[in-house]
Amino acid sequence: MSLRHFLTLLDISPEEGTSILARGIALKAKQKNGETHPTLAGKALAMIFDKASTRTRVSFETGMFQLGGHALFLHSGTTQLGRGEPVEDSARVISSMVDMVMIRTFDHAMVEKFAEYSSVPVINALTDLTHPCQILADVMTFVEHRGSIKSKTVAWIGDGNNMAHSWMNGSVTFGYTLNIATPNGYAPDAMRLRHAISKGAKINLCNTPQEAVQGADLVTTDVWASMGQEEEQKIREAAFKDYQVNSKLMTQANSDALFMHCLPAHRGEEVSADVIDGNQSVVWDEAENRLHVQKALMEFLMDTST
Ligand code: CP
Ligand code: NVA
Repeated sequence: MSLRHFLTLLDISPEEGTSILARGIALKAKQKNGETHPTLAGKALAMIFDKASTRTRVSFETGMFQLGGHALFLHSGTTQLGRGEPVEDSARVISSMVDMVMIRTFDHAMVEKFAEYSSVPVINALTDLTHPCQILADVMTFVEHRGSIKSKTVAWIGDGNNMAHSWMNGSVTFGYTLNIATPNGYAPDAMRLRHAISKGAKINLCNTPQEAVQGADLVTTDVWASMGQEEEQKIREAAFKDYQVNSKLMTQANSDALFMHCLPAHRGEEVSADVIDGNQSVVWDEAENRLHVQKALMEFLMDTST
């Protein structure tokens, strides 16, 4: 065994991904049945946040509590990391005292550097480049509602952002086809796209949202301006105006297509209220499943790392 990190979905094999989802579903059942499951008793998770969060903080902190462990919330504004202590030094020190580290930050390279100097598993809880924990929850949600996602079609509508990149990597892990429709100038990172395809991802770049949702079993989107892009909001609203997921677009997907959104959502921008609040939407299950699947992920990293 060796130290395992979860910085992108490509850090786990398809078999490991399937097993983490199955364990997430089992842990959810235990939680619902009131069965305690203190598999990480005595373990501590440091949670480093350089960006805002609701779901990620609540799910990791509650998840660690339910597994019998402890989570520390470390906001950059109140740690020496935020005052410029080198990432390498912080990684050595923090990882000497805890059993796992979760990081949400801007620059993906920061998480990679932290992992390089950490003596314990590091989890990427969102960077500007990727958001792999969210895809675990999303695919678990699909499995609960529709069964295996292998060979199904997912349509990504909107920005070629961190979520889009993780959907691309998830095609390698979970075997779905990904149709992507983004406005000109907002395509996913070309290098990441090539890399995912070289690893076996099945990805189609489409010219329009209408083309992307043809045959889709799942339609998903995200905000037009991500954290750190707030000043581009107006320019992006104009660029993305034809990329809203609304009921007209949903009628062009498969009739039983699900709708997902990582949240937070802007009703009236990337998604209409009738879709996100409608009967094809599974966004609340999707958000809740962050808790269950990340508990499975933390168990997996603790089990497989030395
Ligand atoms: N989806 C997600 O990561 O939500 P938060 O930003 O609230 O953590
Ligand atoms: N793309 C969004 C995801 C939020 C969970 C952002 O980075 O702000």
